[in-house]
Amino acid sequence: MELIIANRILQDPLFRGKLAEIESLEEDRIFCGHGLEHLLSVGRMAMLMCIEKGVEVSPDVLYSAALLHDIGRVEEYTLGISHDISGPETAGKILEQVGCDPEDSQQILRLIAGHRHKDPDPLSLEAIFYAADKKSRMCSFCKAQEECCWPDEKRNHSIEV
Ligand SMILES: [Fe+2]
Ligand SMILES: [Fe+2]
Repeated sequence: MELIIANRILQDPLFRGKLAEIESLEEDRIFCGHGLEHLLSVGRMAMLMCIEKGVEVSPDVLYSAALLHDIGRVEEYTLGISHDISGPETAGKILEQVGCDPEDSQQILRLIAGHRHKDPDPLSLEAIFYAADKKSRMCSFCKAQEECCWPDEKRNHSIEV
């Protein structure tokens, strides 16, 4: 299946610029990074979880949300604005630039704005997206385990299907 918007996002200059900024701002960060590997991992994991749970979603919407969900990290590091608050503004600009359908944009922006909050309905797209973001980290191999603020129930010590 062709992912039209997600692939346009990958080539978008604002997206690529922000990703490069995040990479440089995280150069000395000991905790989880937010580069392309993490973003793609969230997309793939969320897609698998949707298929497994029978939750209908446009793969293009899901991968686009995954690519953009941490885009606000630049403002979080430089201005102290939490990235779920700052992210939707940048993501909205990128989605407009790549010609995303307004309804799909709204859904993508909702996922980005809500990705730090656990939705109580385990079958909601929001809950799946939240879980995929957390599950994309392999905590037992992390060198910053002692300093990390994640409680044990959020940490991943094994892989699941
Ligand atoms: Fe995040
Ligand atoms: Fe993330």
